[in-house]
Amino acid sequence: MPLRKIEEADLDLMLSWRNHPSIRQSMFSQVIIEPEQHRAWFRRQAKKEDCLWLIYETHENRPAGIVYFTDMDRAPRNAFWGFYAAPDAQPGTGTRMGLEAIDLYFSELGFHKLNAEVLETNERSLRFHRKLGFKVEGVFQDQYLGEQAFQSVTRFGLLAAEWDEHRKVLAATFPNRSS
Ligand SMILES: CC(C)(COP(=O)(O)OP(=O)(O)OC[C@H]1O[C@@H](n2cnc3c(N)ncnc32)[C@H](O)[C@@H]1OP(=O)(O)O)[C@@H](O)C(=O)NCCC(=O)NCCS
Repeated sequence: MPLRKIEEADLDLMLSWRNHPSIRQSMFSQVIIEPEQHRAWFRRQAKKEDCLWLIYETHENRPAGIVYFTDMDRAPRNAFWGFYAAPDAQPGTGTRMGLEAIDLYFSELGFHKLNAEVLETNERSLRFHRKLGFKVEGVFQDQYLGEQAFQSVTRFGLLAAEWDEHRKVLAATFPNRSS
């Protein structure tokens, strides 16, 4: 399986990615996270039933990214997601990881809708969501206060039926797993 649940043994690598400037600046929480803080956070998350934290591995079992679902609401079957590719990942990793994660979310977990929120400075992620077929549902002006200034937040949504159609286009250009 290219996606598996994160374990304690993955935490050091995960934290080295999460603290990397290219990833940290894309996140809503941008402070540097200390290892002990990270472990305590992971133990809390592991006990929760409304989130799922996964590591993405290439076909050589090389870890290449993190993807997660949060606020998983089992009644309307919706949730938010987030992700980051390893800073040294090959181009295309994000798309392959996204394909696997969204397939899992809709097909195996049976959810109906996936939501995302992206900061206005994160051009890569804004484009990435559009590429994966997400639709903009609203732009919340000055919703986020960073170190420098306020930023708008774009809210995206993707329905299971929309994904069924869109994934065919994506899958044709991207084999399942990164090399
Ligand atoms: C977003 C992210 C996962 C994309 O991973 P990736 O491996 O670069 O993705 P891909 O190479 O598959 O590219 C997918 C799309 O992302 C967008 N993208 C990737 N790199 C980009 C760049 N430098 N500038 C603009 N768009 C970019 C493009 O739309 C691209 O599709 P295209 O090549 O057909 O134009 C990665 O950049 C990342 O980890 N960013 C930091 C964490 C983050 O922003 N998480 C989301 C928070 S909301």
